[in-house]
Amino acid sequence: MRRLNRRKTLNLVKELDAFPKVPESYVETSASRGTVSILAFTVILVLTVMEFFVYRNTWMKYEYEVDKDFASKLRINIDITVAMKCQYVGADVLDLAETMVLSSSGLIYEPVIFDLSPQQRQWQRMLQGIQNRLQEEHSLQDVIFKSAIKSASTALPPREDSLLQPPDACRIHGHLYVNKVAGNFHITVGKAIPHPRGHAHLAALVSHETYNFSHRVDHLSFGEPIPGIINTLDGTEKIASDHNQMFQYFITIVPTKLRTYRISSDTHQFAVTERERVIDHASGSHGVSGIFMKYDISSLMVTVTESHMPFWQFLVRLCGIIGGIFSTTGMLHGIAEFIVDIVCCRFKLGAYKQPTVPLQLGDTNNHIPLLKENSTH
Ligand SMILES: *[C@@H]1O[C@H](CO)[C@@H](O)[C@H](O)[C@H]1NC(C)=O
Repeated sequence: MRRLNRRKTLNLVKELDAFPKVPESYVETSASRGTVSILAFTVILVLTVMEFFVYRNTWMKYEYEVDKDFASKLRINIDITVAMKCQYVGADVLDLAETMVLSSSGLIYEPVIFDLSPQQRQWQRMLQGIQNRLQEEHSLQDVIFKSAIKSASTALPPREDSLLQPPDACRIHGHLYVNKVAGNFHITVGKAIPHPRGHAHLAALVSHETYNFSHRVDHLSFGEPIPGIINTLDGTEKIASDHNQMFQYFITIVPTKLRTYRISSDTHQFAVTERERVIDHASGSHGVSGIFMKYDISSLMVTVTESHMPFWQFLVRLCGIIGGIFSTTGMLHGIAEFIVDIVCCRFKLGAYKQPTVPLQLGDTNNHIPLLKENSTH
């Protein structure tokens, strides 16, 4: 009884065999089929190698969602050089909650020379070159994301020459923690002093002749600093033509979660609109001269993930390539053979030519004048 059952299942399995069976006498090799096989193998090899590179490659996937994290603090990293002496300028942040962030908390004022050394100038040109390319080609941003951490720091290198002249500028650098609401970071004349309704800058003692808000942004970023990432304003240099000049930057910060194979970090990208104007109260252009950076935080958060083709997908695609090319070349070869057969049989060419049949010859003779007649019309 058991034996019978086993035989039955064996027969069933045998019936399920879907591979084509060809009697051995049908299997014969030919030179044309051999050539086609070699071609097929070559194509398979090339495509497999290419597919392997696709498998090795990674790409960036962008996803958007609403940022629900409002409790955490926002870190601002600053490195700005202003063409004024340190004792004349003050930097601080005022946010919408009107809580003043003390400028002394995290910022360092360092007297420097405004003009860059030749080597620093070269570095700045390179950075500006990258910035220009970034605006044209968005895909470059992906490359920068991928190479974050790996590449060297984008900070300005120190001067290679010793200080020959007394410092005429002030480098303000460091970081601040602010509330995650819109705010205004600014550098103006005089140190900030707290005031019951906001704050004021003590500017009365500074002569207007010393005002010069020419500045250079070597680094401005939000969130944890990541070496290798080039931020929108890095490398910007603005020269003031007038003593009383106001520079405004309207910044929209986009929280960005970066998840690459190298790093996983919560950072921020930002977009900037710039404006500058000369303050002249006589002609109605009111305001305070200085550098103002108004920032606002986008409620949309971007998650940038580095993705990779899974291994099973690579295998499936390989099977597709190999099987597909085998059957396609087989079919093409079959069609080609069929066409050659038809052409040879119909016009009796090559090996099929049989000159002993007169009727066929007459046939072809009739065809030629007919064709000529047609062409003369
Ligand atoms: C401000 O300083 C820069 C750099 O030293 C200079 O090129 C510019 O002419 C100065 N502007 C004014 C109004 O003095």
